[in-house]
Amino acid sequence: MRNLFLIIVVLFSAGAAQISSLAARDIDFSATPVADGALIFAISDAENLTAVTAIIGEANTENLKRAMTASGFMAEEGTTASFISGGATYGEIYLVGVKSDGMRPRDWEDFGGRAATLAKASKTDRIYVVAPGASDADIENAAFGAMLGQYSFTKYMTEAEAATGELLFVSDSAAAVKSSFDAGRRHVAEAVNWARDLQTEPANALYPEEFVRRSRLKFNGVAKTSMSVLDVRAMERLGMGAILGVGRGSERPPRMMIVRYNGGAAGEKPLVFAGKGITFDSGGISIKTSSNMWEMKGDMSGAAAVTGAVLGLAKSRAPVNVIAIAALAENMPDGRAIRPGDVLKAMSGTTIEIMSTDAEGRLVLSDALWYAQQEFDPALLVDVATLTGSVIGALNDEYGGLFARSDDVAEMLLQAGETSGDDVWRLPLHPNHKKQIKSVIADIKNGNTGSPGASTGAQFLGTFVKEETPWAHLDIAGVEWFKEMPEPTKPMGATGWGVRLLDRLARDYEY
Ligand code: BES
Ligand code: MN
Ligand code: ZN
Repeated sequence: MRNLFLIIVVLFSAGAAQISSLAARDIDFSATPVADGALIFAISDAENLTAVTAIIGEANTENLKRAMTASGFMAEEGTTASFISGGATYGEIYLVGVKSDGMRPRDWEDFGGRAATLAKASKTDRIYVVAPGASDADIENAAFGAMLGQYSFTKYMTEAEAATGELLFVSDSAAAVKSSFDAGRRHVAEAVNWARDLQTEPANALYPEEFVRRSRLKFNGVAKTSMSVLDVRAMERLGMGAILGVGRGSERPPRMMIVRYNGGAAGEKPLVFAGKGITFDSGGISIKTSSNMWEMKGDMSGAAAVTGAVLGLAKSRAPVNVIAIAALAENMPDGRAIRPGDVLKAMSGTTIEIMSTDAEGRLVLSDALWYAQQEFDPALLVDVATLTGSVIGALNDEYGGLFARSDDVAEMLLQAGETSGDDVWRLPLHPNHKKQIKSVIADIKNGNTGSPGASTGAQFLGTFVKEETPWAHLDIAGVEWFKEMPEPTKPMGATGWGVRLLDRLARDYEY
């Protein structure tokens, strides 16, 4: 073989990837690569290309080595390189640096995400991903990461290119890996991407009833699941004055959506996940400033995360009992809207003085949390909410803010975050933060509480959680949308943050 590899195209490091409008490739598995395709290799040692040679031959490997030297590709983890081959086979070769050992599941996911990002730039129909020495589980993790990494939202682009091509992960036991993946993690990846779709949908398309309609479609026919929805009358009967108060200022009525999946042992208490589902947060009468107000279409990210997590668990038939509660409302200013100074009565009976109609997330969740405890006696109650700007100041987009009374509960979430890649950092629930929400005329007030805003928000929610209920609050305002630094499995835009975390939490939960 005298094929010549010509020319390095680009060398770029993780994080600098572009989002293209090319729709997703099919993710599949293959026992061997075929020469009409392109190749993506995991490389842990730039000096050792034995596995590469086995596929492309000696002469091509020599040329590849020269190109690697010329481009300075050292196989450091997270770096990638693209080469165009002048040879007769494998028109493109891509390299992705990986660690030589100690690759955690999330590192394999990142590898897959990087492979998918490289694949976006290629027009080749079939692209094979080769990871020498990877186990079947590693290959599944990589494929999972690829499904997340190639996500894009092209629905409203009238000229977006149609889906094309395949990304094939090479494994000796391709058939077995495929059936395992298709029954399991593919569903979880799809659930993350579905949550991202909901986050990205503009608020003129996605409002409380539409969120419910889409969820109904998704769960339709999924074994062992059931859904119920509380409309305004049902919520009135239950005395849910807090969520009803938030919903009053919008033409689109609020909803409380409950999705159950009973895949675990009968009688085992469920894990209940409650999500903030503000389909648009204008601030209400305490209206927000206009710059970046568009981002508030994503104020339903908590609801998307909890619903997506239950969807992924149910479709992959995980042996768990889980419930998602989505507290859905649109926060708008209107003649019927609540005002600062108003007093609302929550389902728990607690009266709330409204300091700011822009502190609405804690209002809708107060009724969701109380309802969860009354109806379901949760083994663990976790709420997920884009609750405060304050948490962005503390943790930006690296970590979700975690609040828990119990160290054991906190440890479970920290562990699930570390394993899943949805990292969390624990922040305090100090008794003083609770004093800050005392009201002069009602039981508590919903804002103007001073610093630290993320903790006072958490203490507000805690008011609606009984001491004996194991509970965690996740403030995801900083992680729901990536504006600057994409990650291999989280491209720019909606992250679907929380689906993977809750998925992991449920699977690892021990009674
Ligand atoms: N949805 C916002 C929080 C938010 C801000 C999410 C930026 C994502 C990006 C929430 O409803 C809100 O407005 N919180 C106020 C609370 C305050 C009025 C007590 C905040 O953080 O400023
Ligand atoms: Mn708000
Ligand atoms: Zn909000």
